[in-house]
Amino acid sequence: MIVVETIKEMQAMLANYKNKGKSIGFVPTMGALHKGHLSLIEASNKACDITVSSIFVNPTQFNVQEDFDKYPRTFDTDRQLLESVNCDIVFVPSFDEMYPQKDTREFNFGELGNVMEGAHRPGHFNGVAQIVSKLFDAIPANKAFFGQKDFQQYVIIKDLVRQYKYDIQIIACPIIREKSGLAMSSRNQRLSDSDKVVASEISKILFWAKDNYKNYTVLDLKSIITKRLSKTKGLDLEYFDIVDDNNLQTVEKWNTEQNIVACVAVFCGKVRLIDNIVFNL
Ligand code: PAJ
Repeated sequence: MIVVETIKEMQAMLANYKNKGKSIGFVPTMGALHKGHLSLIEASNKACDITVSSIFVNPTQFNVQEDFDKYPRTFDTDRQLLESVNCDIVFVPSFDEMYPQKDTREFNFGELGNVMEGAHRPGHFNGVAQIVSKLFDAIPANKAFFGQKDFQQYVIIKDLVRQYKYDIQIIACPIIREKSGLAMSSRNQRLSDSDKVVASEISKILFWAKDNYKNYTVLDLKSIITKRLSKTKGLDLEYFDIVDDNNLQTVEKWNTEQNIVACVAVFCGKVRLIDNIVFNL
């Protein structure tokens, strides 16, 4: 696996592959890799000739400084993991490489950016758009792979590509979970064993919702799930919503024309966790 630190080197290398007719797949990450990230690399390997991943803990998307400071940084292990799944190139830029000057760009995703994570983490998606647009400029890939774990991020990135006419196809990949159902996340490293048991309730409640939603109105289901999450000892619910997978707006009734996603954010101690489940109506 080739390790690249500068945009210039990255662009030259990829231009060379493109001239040879090779397709490029891109998997952006913030490191602290787990099987969820590796599944994206595997999806890219299947779909493209060359897979590029990036590791960059992007300060502009953290709205809480402590969360940025405590974000796990495990480059040596990450590198081995990427090698184990045959990633071809890893891009590990410095802060100055990505932000030679303050990025003052303001992105506008309309209502997509105002709900759920957007409402609770002001500036988060602007920071994500800043770094992802810079990465798309540095890494002119044919396809980029994003996890449905961050469902709203995936929808926003699709909108970024639409608005700025990036010639890159955005591919969504399914959520990879622990045996307990807990969605894999770099933040899980900060959970104790007993926290993990508590946190696995989140997915159990979401699975129950998927299996049983047909017996309830949207409002009733929402109120049942909200109550169950709020009553789970050790979890502190931030939001639960049932939204349309295209526009991310709250749905009022089941409509067979739509895909519906039930999305949740909770604190388990100091660690903020998100999860979601898609109901194919
Ligand atoms: P990060 O949280 O490292 O996630 C990188 C990618 O891995 C994202 O597309 C995310 O949705 C996916 N992912 C995380 N956990 C997953 C799981 N359990 N199953 C499947 N996919 C999973 O998302 C970011 O980084 C950043 O915002 C980034 C896009 C890199 C911009 O800084």
